[in-house]
Amino acid sequence: MFQDLRVWINGEIVQWADAKVHIMSHSFSRGSAMFDVLGIHPGPDGPAAFRLDRHLDRFFRSAELLGMKMGYTKEELRKAIAQMVKANGIDRGIVKLMGYYGEEAIISLVMESNVDIAIFAIPETEELVLDKAEPISICISKWRKLHPATVPVEAKACANYLNGMLSRRDAAERGFDLAIMLTTDGYVAEGAIESIFMVKDGIVKTPPLGNILQSVTRMSILEATPRIGLEVREEQITPQELLSADEIFFCHTGIKVIPVKRIEGRELSPVPGPVTSKIAGLMDDICQFRNDKFRHWLEPLE
Ligand SMILES: Cc1ncc(COP(=O)(O)O)c(C=O)c1O
Repeated sequence: MFQDLRVWINGEIVQWADAKVHIMSHSFSRGSAMFDVLGIHPGPDGPAAFRLDRHLDRFFRSAELLGMKMGYTKEELRKAIAQMVKANGIDRGIVKLMGYYGEEAIISLVMESNVDIAIFAIPETEELVLDKAEPISICISKWRKLHPATVPVEAKACANYLNGMLSRRDAAERGFDLAIMLTTDGYVAEGAIESIFMVKDGIVKTPPLGNILQSVTRMSILEATPRIGLEVREEQITPQELLSADEIFFCHTGIKVIPVKRIEGRELSPVPGPVTSKIAGLMDDICQFRNDKFRHWLEPLE
């Protein structure tokens, strides 16, 4: 399906099928890769990237937290992203940036070379549907979120995603769509690749940073919702509070607001609830260029 796409690797453009690393590469055999994903939306003047500056900041922050040396500037990567969106004719889709050590490593744990960079610009497909939110069921996973004293959870490190994979598997085996993980202290953290919000008595809440990824969507919802008169707080949430929430929604780059219809054995109704609908409408307006206050969040890629 993606065979016709081209991929940017360290400044060279290769065919999709040639975007490979060796099994003995450090990143495959040691798990030392990182990534970022951002959304491409069709704009009046061509494709635009949602909060490209924030995603590049996060990509560079991931590299810093993992001690990986970056051989490119943000501006160079910005240009490369625009180049690949154009080369692959993407109007609506995602860009995935990967940082990895393609070098083979038999016993070496620490790599001193610059990190290799790959840029994938991928169109929306049946499998990768953007902005189409079906209400979901969620459970509280038996797996806890990685503790920030063991790995930097703020870094979008591929190895951290084994944690999410296990929680997703747990959810699937129990008949739920997605899972929410608790911190090792027992507070609500996040999903495998999603941040979480809950609503109680009209107040919107989300867990604070520290144990979770700095999600660009979460940050955007926190910044934008006060403009539509909603009170929003970053504070610790206990599982009991979450289980008795009036409304719950997940969010991530692909789908800005995903309403939850059931948590464990409890059905939520109506779905989406009134506050979730308002926030979904706001994010939709922003991404469809109907909200002038936040138009600067969509960066043209010409
Ligand atoms: C662990 C985790 N939390 C939250 C998110 C949502 O982040 P964003 O809004 O930047 O997509 C992601 C996205 O991939 C994630 O992997």
